[in-house]
Amino acid sequence: MDQARRLRAINDAHPTTIAFASGKGGVGKTNVCVNTAIALAELGKRVLIVDFDIGMANVHILMNAMKSRTMIETVKARIPLAAAVQKNVYGVDILHGGSGQDQLVHLSDDDMQFLMRELEVLTEYDYVLFDMGAGATDTSLQFIAGCDEMFLILTPEPTSLMDGYAYTKLVHHQYPDLPLGVIVNRAQSGEEALQCFERMEVACKQFLNKTIRFLGFLPDDSSVRKAVIAQVPFYQYNRKSDISWRLERILTTLTGTPPKPRHLMDRLMGNLRKQWNRV
Ligand SMILES: Nc1ncnc2c1ncn2[C@@H]1O[C@H](COP(=O)(O)OP(=O)(O)OP(=O)(O)O)[C@@H](O)[C@H]1O
Ligand SMILES: [Mg+2]
Repeated sequence: MDQARRLRAINDAHPTTIAFASGKGGVGKTNVCVNTAIALAELGKRVLIVDFDIGMANVHILMNAMKSRTMIETVKARIPLAAAVQKNVYGVDILHGGSGQDQLVHLSDDDMQFLMRELEVLTEYDYVLFDMGAGATDTSLQFIAGCDEMFLILTPEPTSLMDGYAYTKLVHHQYPDLPLGVIVNRAQSGEEALQCFERMEVACKQFLNKTIRFLGFLPDDSSVRKAVIAQVPFYQYNRKSDISWRLERILTTLTGTPPKPRHLMDRLMGNLRKQWNRV
């Protein structure tokens, strides 16, 4: 059985695996992945984040988590992957991808076999979320193929859309059955987010005959930058921000749980903030 199908066979028995990916870099994959993980944990789900942006890993920076052993170190030393899992950071476990010189490390076929086998053992989770690097490599594509779904992160900028489509085309040609969900990040409004999704949807339908699903959008929100600088995930930094509320809406789509009611005062503050940002 090939690696991708082995991972999927295991997934059927245990965690739901999702790859957070994009064509263009810097569109918000890591922020979306980390905060989705925390929000899932708050719903009582057991979640592991695998930082698969090898060499540029920054999940641990956003979460201000002490860097533990990296996935690359354990793979190269053939140490069980569980030894590198950092437990309970905002309720989620993380596997650090490795930064700096790890970028130069090549994963051989044997390394990949070992990594896949080790990931199969981590079955105690409800969700395993892979934070991918921007663009495609052979290794990252193999992982994405083994996931239950890919979440493509887009921003409304044409460059993000073009690169997102090119990336989707690449993945689709190799793995046409892989389900694809889209999250539009940094949108100015719901309307803008929907327009962005619809452009992608039409292109996928027309040129790839592929159906994709809209998972929701996150607004461009000044609290994200502040949260990143404070090294606190935005969902923890300000639970009442618009972006935290929108994230909960995405979680509703993802898990099928009913949305939390939003307090009138929070809605008013959200609207006021939007007005201020426009000035
Ligand atoms: N919704 C948002 N509102 C405002 N700023 C945002 C938002 N999402 C992301 N950002 C900004 O974009 C930056 C990049 O985000 P992030 O690191 O999550 O992107 P990425 O796609 O993971 O990047 P890379 O491709 O380098 O891995 C953040 O540090 C933050 O300043
Ligand atoms: Mg990232």
